Amino acid sequence: MKAEPCTYVIFGATGNLSRIKLMPALYRLDAAGRLPEGTRIMAMGRRPWDQQKWRQEVQDMVQAKAKDDFDEAVFQRFSDRLYYHQGDISQADCYSGLAQTLADKAFSQNIAFYLSISPADFGPVMSMLSTNDLFNEESGWRRVIIEKPFGYDLESAQALQKRISHYLSEEQIYRIDHYLGKGMVQNVLVFRFANVMLEPLWNRNYIDHIQITHSESIGIDSRGDYYDGAGALRDMLQSHLLQLLTLVTMEPPVSMEAESLRDEKVKVLKSIRPISKEAVHAQAFRGQYAKGMVNNEKVKGYLDEANIPQSSTTETYASMKLYIDNWRWRGVPFYMRTGKRMAKAQSTISICFRHPPLQFFRDTNVQCMNPNWVLLGIQPEECIRIEMTVKEPGLEMSTRTSSLDASFRNQDEKAVDAYEDLLLDVLKGDRSLFLRFDEVEYAWRIVDPILQSWAVERDYIATYPAGSWGPEDSRLFDKESQSWRSSLTPECK
Ligand code: BG6
Repeated sequence: MKAEPCTYVIFGATGNLSRIKLMPALYRLDAAGRLPEGTRIMAMGRRPWDQQKWRQEVQDMVQAKAKDDFDEAVFQRFSDRLYYHQGDISQADCYSGLAQTLADKAFSQNIAFYLSISPADFGPVMSMLSTNDLFNEESGWRRVIIEKPFGYDLESAQALQKRISHYLSEEQIYRIDHYLGKGMVQNVLVFRFANVMLEPLWNRNYIDHIQITHSESIGIDSRGDYYDGAGALRDMLQSHLLQLLTLVTMEPPVSMEAESLRDEKVKVLKSIRPISKEAVHAQAFRGQYAKGMVNNEKVKGYLDEANIPQSSTTETYASMKLYIDNWRWRGVPFYMRTGKRMAKAQSTISICFRHPPLQFFRDTNVQCMNPNWVLLGIQPEECIRIEMTVKEPGLEMSTRTSSLDASFRNQDEKAVDAYEDLLLDVLKGDRSLFLRFDEVEYAWRIVDPILQSWAVERDYIATYPAGSWGPEDSRLFDKESQSWRSSLTPECK
């Protein structure tokens, strides 16, 4: 698919996401020669800024991220694409002014509206765009990119969908989950389906369990207002981690085309055994960070962060166990966890194979007889490792774990940010890395019983010291031999 010139209209352009992700990603696309000629970027903002001031702001954003890679000449070209539309997006006149500006020949009539705003504003903004005829596709295509969270629970997600489908067809909606733009996440499919060695073993006959961990060492920074109403389950598990789960477990799609891919992901989500109210205690766990040490520095507890009420029992750590009741996965537990202010920042998928059936080395000097693991490091380290047991050199019959490394990036190959990939896909009209509504809906169905149960048990929450691996939640595991895996290098048990 070919990228077409377009006018990106960014709502929330002066906010955090735009500052740290969108503007730097658009600049890098331009630097790589990937932004088609004629692409323009219109920022929507309330502040009384003019073009000049906005261009300076963007330069600061880009420079802060690019550091040594910043190129004055490239920025000059990029800067010519930048425009600022001042207005209050809750007011009608903001849109009539926008419509007038966009009608100018300087702007491509393919328009992508990027909504990086509070979900409560999605509906009203779309209604006003529609009233001002800005979704009319006579002169060019219209696409709308919607940031997560898509709703707050199943019911609100369905209500939001109903509202936006009033203005837009499904083909025009790009629900973003930036995890799908990450290089290693896309590599999960290549690793599974472009190699034949492991796929025959990728099922309940050989796999003991699968873990997905996303841990962060950062806290909630200045996002208290949003985070306290969301919590870790909504913020990470319902979206990013369930997406990772679908990629690791889905059947091979017919093609890489958007609908085929998304059909297979939905089948997985539909096959996940619903968690009953009674099972929540056994299948889900939550915790909140207390003060502690992170990277040798003292940090506050969650309740002392800005804009967090003292009585908050919002979880900053959430873990859960799921089962996929289909032919391939029946009986295999999937353990998923995420947390803020944990010991280390990392995202990994760890696949633990069953123990060999015969332990005939048991009477020898064997020190380390681990099961095979496949470790997929998503970030910060991107890697693929397969752990095998081998004999140690020497006269003794003793073993150790050796790791086969299939990591893929050469030193001179730069990582591409997820948003670069996704912003370019919008220009190509490629929706394969964006979520279809049924994916979002089934994901909410999975976590809704947990949310409901936690909502009525608002009086107590376990805590964990900042800088630790989270609260003690070993009750999730089905077997004594199972426990969280935190490292990408061999662990001897
Ligand atoms: C966002 C969450 O969607 O993803 C954040 O709202 C989280 O709380 C972030 O920190 C993690 O993304 P990444 O790309 O930094 O792993």
